[in-house]
Amino acid sequence: MASINDNYLKLKAGYLFPEIARRVNAFTSANPNAQVIKLGIGDVTEPLPLACRQAMAKAIDDMGDRQTFKGYGPEQGYAWLREKIAQHDFQARGCEVSAEEIFISDGSKCDTGNILDIFGKNNTIAVTDPVYPVYVDTNVMAGHTGDANEKGEYGGLVYLPISAENEFTAAIPSQKVDLIYLCFPNNPTGATATKAYLKEWVDYALAHGSIIFFDAAYEAFITDPTLPHSIYEIEGARNCAIEFRSFSKNAGFTGTRCAFTVVPKTLTAKAADGSDVELWKLWNRRQSTKFNGVSYIIQRGAEAVYSPKGQAQVQELIAFYLENARIIREKLAAAGLMVYGGVNAPYVWVKTPDGLSSWDFFDKLLHTVNVVGTPGSGFGAAGEGYFRISAFNSRENVEEAMERITSTLKLG
Ligand code: MLT
Repeated sequence: MASINDNYLKLKAGYLFPEIARRVNAFTSANPNAQVIKLGIGDVTEPLPLACRQAMAKAIDDMGDRQTFKGYGPEQGYAWLREKIAQHDFQARGCEVSAEEIFISDGSKCDTGNILDIFGKNNTIAVTDPVYPVYVDTNVMAGHTGDANEKGEYGGLVYLPISAENEFTAAIPSQKVDLIYLCFPNNPTGATATKAYLKEWVDYALAHGSIIFFDAAYEAFITDPTLPHSIYEIEGARNCAIEFRSFSKNAGFTGTRCAFTVVPKTLTAKAADGSDVELWKLWNRRQSTKFNGVSYIIQRGAEAVYSPKGQAQVQELIAFYLENARIIREKLAAAGLMVYGGVNAPYVWVKTPDGLSSWDFFDKLLHTVNVVGTPGSGFGAAGEGYFRISAFNSRENVEEAMERITSTLKLG
């Protein structure tokens, strides 16, 4: 009889976003006339930039001509895209990242989970609480944790609480951890990290031989010129950090799928025999074996993000969503709620009113004003009592949702 990976049985029933979708579907089936506005999952709503669409259309024509047709591409991505990324996203900011260190993929969610393939089973792993649930669940699946307790915390993981008291930036742990997940601008709290703060983490990681998994999927939303966009802006990070980036939230590629991961060639970790092994080699081997690359058409679309027109169109999208975030923040604050984030990030993190639990507030918003958000407790035990509102929607829907919430609900 075949057997399963029992680690899956440790997982909580459903992944957060499908669970929200399930509740929303149940509500809309029972209330078919309700005009539900979804500010839950961080999924973009605005069309792809014209520059990207034109590049993709041209790439389709390439595929229709024997001279320019492409079969399998390089598993790591086409050199022309990797070079543009290296120059624009890193070298232009003074970061020493080469094209070869960039691996094109179909998403940061996949990469942040897949990266565990190249790490051992006995690492001590730290996550913030609250946190993007993929980091936790993929470690559960890989057998890196024990069972969950009644609060949903998995044995064996080190949880670093983040709250308004520490400005949603975790204190550097006093104990040694081997792998650390950091996400800035942060999902779900919308918090940002200064260079000085990231330097503390880099110094910690270098001192302990730890690896930082730096998720910068939302870096394009940084408007404060003093804030770092990449961990490689911090000296020493090439020796302790892997960075994840995405075209999903800046260029609207959530349905198109394109992202990349940076694994510096200077990064090593220990083999069982005590030798230092280059992580770049392992990740390259992993990708060459388990991945066949992102489609040529999509990579051409991603390349167009770096054209002057693409840059201008991406900036427009970012400005549009940030204006949504500003409206959400200001309307809810004016109504008496405590709000955080939403300035250099597309997420607004809200303290639930009247001591309501996160799911109770979720149900109240859904049932009373037909607005969907994300319960903070879905991101971890310390997210209880908070609620995330995403700025990814049309202006009309954001304004309507804020109007419904502030005029109908008694808040504060
Ligand atoms: C979110 O809502 O947290 C995001 O959509 C997650 C993701 O990008 O996978």
